[in-house]
Amino acid sequence: MSLINKKTILDNIASSALKEQLSIHVFSKIDSTNSFLKELNPSSKIEICLAEQQTKGRGRLNRVWHSPSAENIYFSCRYRLPNNIANLSVLSLVTGLTIIDVLKEYCPTLQIKWPNDIYWQNQKLAGILIESIHTKNKFINVIIGIGLNINSDLQDQLNINWVSLYDINRIRYDRNIIISSLISKLDISLNKLITYGFEIFQKKWQEYDYLFAKEIVVENIAQEITGTCLGIDHTGKLILQKQDGIKVYINQGEASIKKMP
Ligand code: BTN
Repeated sequence: MSLINKKTILDNIASSALKEQLSIHVFSKIDSTNSFLKELNPSSKIEICLAEQQTKGRGRLNRVWHSPSAENIYFSCRYRLPNNIANLSVLSLVTGLTIIDVLKEYCPTLQIKWPNDIYWQNQKLAGILIESIHTKNKFINVIIGIGLNINSDLQDQLNINWVSLYDINRIRYDRNIIISSLISKLDISLNKLITYGFEIFQKKWQEYDYLFAKEIVVENIAQEITGTCLGIDHTGKLILQKQDGIKVYINQGEASIKKMP
């Protein structure tokens, strides 16, 4: 199976303008691709970090991201975005939709679980970790970290809530092709977000919404709310209808499907 290769990745990116903006770092082993970009000196390039293996792969809420060698994609990119992007949390929603766009040719039945997990039949295929570095000027450096389970055989493992493309299709994939597509499509999505705002993504979300019409519980630091999920609004907030009929709009939190007693 092929290893991650910078040349193959670049050869499969069509836009030469985009290629010129990229600075790609590939490691056989690293603590975390997100951490690498956090420490990297500032630059005006789109910095990308990829690794065959992470020894301290990080997930959301301080969880560990399982990162075995040469099987999956551990990808981070650092973008300089104008700091007038009102709500940074929409970045993870847009990234999630972009991942679905990249992977739909391999699996057309993927869904997105607010705010940013990619699911296939109630199992998690991909996760996103966004971190931001504020600068003194009018930009924010954001690091978009993406873990995609591609070639791991996860069905053999105890945790049945995880799935890979291999588990779904029984095919091993060349990760370089998927990475090229991810870099190209993410760049297009981020530029659309900057130019038009989140509203233009709202409709697309409805097509893939894993939580829609389900009874869910959303937990955040302040509270735990239960209700029926009515999708997201034009700013990316999750809409929940409580039992008393009142609608609440949630900006941050961890959603789960309510277990029936
Ligand atoms: C989650 O669902 O909890 C987010 C997982 C994000 C994992 C990716 S793998 C590449 C990048 N580097 C990290 O340390 N984490 C992200």
